[in-house]
Amino acid sequence: MTDGKSRIFLSVVFFLLATCSVCCTNLKRFAYEGFWRDRWQHPGQAIRVLEIQTGQHIADLGSGSGYFTFRLADAVGPNGKVYAVDVDQGMNKYMEKQARKRGYPNIEVILAQHHDPLIPGDGVDLIFTCNTYHHIKDRVAYFSQTRRCLKPSGRIAIMDFNGKGWFQKILPHFTASEVIKKEMESAGYHLQHEFNFLPRQHFLVFSLGKE
Ligand SMILES: C[S@@+](CC[C@H](N)C(=O)[O-])C[C@H]1O[C@@H](n2cnc3c(N)ncnc32)[C@H](O)[C@@H]1O
Repeated sequence: MTDGKSRIFLSVVFFLLATCSVCCTNLKRFAYEGFWRDRWQHPGQAIRVLEIQTGQHIADLGSGSGYFTFRLADAVGPNGKVYAVDVDQGMNKYMEKQARKRGYPNIEVILAQHHDPLIPGDGVDLIFTCNTYHHIKDRVAYFSQTRRCLKPSGRIAIMDFNGKGWFQKILPHFTASEVIKKEMESAGYHLQHEFNFLPRQHFLVFSLGKE
């Protein structure tokens, strides 16, 4: 190939990759948020039952496009902090942009590793994770080491799909609640609450100590 042709070829490849990365982020956003998610997600009630206090520090593990991140940031207020933790650099860039645009200085975006959330600081009050549990590999080891990211009074709230509904039958992205309970107990946590108001998801809260 001549110099001119290879330059055109490389420009086309670069353009296609750039277009694909923007489109992929938008497609993923749509996949996570879909249409009318509030109707089945009941985000207000989900945040309320967690009894979050202003000033608390929270990690939203697998924050995606921030469906819960912004709501958590509202709950902790300007003196609190929410770490938006995700392994997807494209989503993280989108989150950073949105946090700036919407005026949320209390959100800090963290690029995690698949085996380590890399949550900074001395420990958060709550790790919240929605529709992400089934993505995590070797979960007992993962959540055993994640204990060090929590304060002694810290909690982990796990929401994951329950396998109900036609869509979840086609795309089996869910975890049985018995599996979550068994794995989290093996990782050293104790079940504190199990909420049953979400039609499509389990919603379990674990603590480090026995109540
Ligand atoms: C289905 S999305 C859910 C996004 C968001 N929590 C929501 O409810 O809309 C799952 C997210 O988890 C992220 N993820 C997958 N494995 C992860 C890991 N090991 N650590 C952190 N994030 C992870 C993905 O990149 C993706 O953004």
